[in-house]
Amino acid sequence: MTTEAMLSDVFPLGSRLNEAGHLEVGGCDTLELAREFGTPAYVVAEDDLRARARAFLAAGAQAGHEDFNVVFASKAFPCTAVLSLFAEEGLWCDVASGGELHLALNAGFPAERIVLHGNAKSEDELGTALEHGVGLIVIDNFDEIERLQRLVQHHGGAGAAAGGEGQAVLLRVTPDVRGETHEKISTGQADSKFGFSIARAAEAIERVRATQGLSLCGLHAHIGSQLLALDPFQREVAELAKLGDFSTWDLGGGLGVPYTADQAQPPPIEEYVTTLLTAAAEQGMAAPGKRLLIEPGRSLCANACVTLYTVESVKQNVSRWVAVDGGMSDNLRPMLYGARYEAHVADRFDGETSCELAGKHCESGDVIVREALLDDPRPGDVIVTPATGAYGYAMANNYNGVPRPPVIFCKDGDARLVVRRERFDDLTARDVG
Ligand code: LLP
Repeated sequence: MTTEAMLSDVFPLGSRLNEAGHLEVGGCDTLELAREFGTPAYVVAEDDLRARARAFLAAGAQAGHEDFNVVFASKAFPCTAVLSLFAEEGLWCDVASGGELHLALNAGFPAERIVLHGNAKSEDELGTALEHGVGLIVIDNFDEIERLQRLVQHHGGAGAAAGGEGQAVLLRVTPDVRGETHEKISTGQADSKFGFSIARAAEAIERVRATQGLSLCGLHAHIGSQLLALDPFQREVAELAKLGDFSTWDLGGGLGVPYTADQAQPPPIEEYVTTLLTAAAEQGMAAPGKRLLIEPGRSLCANACVTLYTVESVKQNVSRWVAVDGGMSDNLRPMLYGARYEAHVADRFDGETSCELAGKHCESGDVIVREALLDDPRPGDVIVTPATGAYGYAMANNYNGVPRPPVIFCKDGDARLVVRRERFDDLTARDVG
């Protein structure tokens, strides 16, 4: 009866409604997954992650650039299985803390393919990065230049990425380009907490060039996240080019994704990469010998994952309230950014009853989807919210002592648990007295 054609690209690639009308992800029936692994659960289509990684790389190859590298922004889905998969696919990894550095190394990224970010890196974080010889450290501020200057005297630096002398570094600048997105995830504006303002960039460049043990390879910028238009990226490239000629350019991440079928469509990965590389080529940033990096997070993993919940209660107040067994502990994005998601009963799509899909937390704002159209949900029904792969697991928490969900990888009809569900004894595991 129903086929793939019914599912929008909000769902993982290869998802479909099977003959029984149940949602299938990576060839696995989501109702069976809910029975086997419990809910809430993050369900990831492994092939989807691989396909998106390959789409980025293929678009770079198609554009003919020899040294184009795709750096996974690990903050989007900092789960070892996801990181290992991207390491296997040949991506680099962006880490923004000592913890993310640990995760990336542990997952198998070679240190020279790791880029360290952060606007408040500690001495420990920088020291560890130097010891491991990470490919690039992205310097954010003048204090960090001083700190690194002191540290490289002890640790040396790999300089692996540049093949040059000392630790290879980039400078992060804020190009004063604003993309259309939520204020909390916009970073390119002049007065940002990240990077050097354009006004101070020349001075920072000089300071780093004069620092022994540091090898300035180029510049980095990241203008924001969930961007659906490409012209801000073109403006970013033009602004960066004004700051000089460098061997490495890191253009950051930010490509948006579809969260609901009725949302404005983001450009496809291919178009995004081609547009960026064309803009870079026009500015001489893509000449032979130049290294180009981009840092996608969300667009590599958001749509690869769905969250499964079970309905616990249904009540009719003014609205119909459908309460499930998760909420703001597994997906903070609706509460933090007003992010919109869609929801379905996993075995009865195309519902028409308007419901407030609420979480189980003691907070009125804990609503996952407002005005979700569901097919007369009842306690025990499995609910699915697609597009939860980016910044869901990443920002999960234990509010109300709710254990964090497992991560299940699905491929060709086989499901494997890659992160187990948290247990109550995990909640007390750090207690010492
Ligand atoms: N590079 C840098 C330096 C970044 O700060 C970020 C994201 C990225 C790359 C990846 O950006 P993406 O391709 O994922 O847009 N928690 C928020 C998103 C915060 C993004 C922080 N930086 C959310 O859930 O929307």
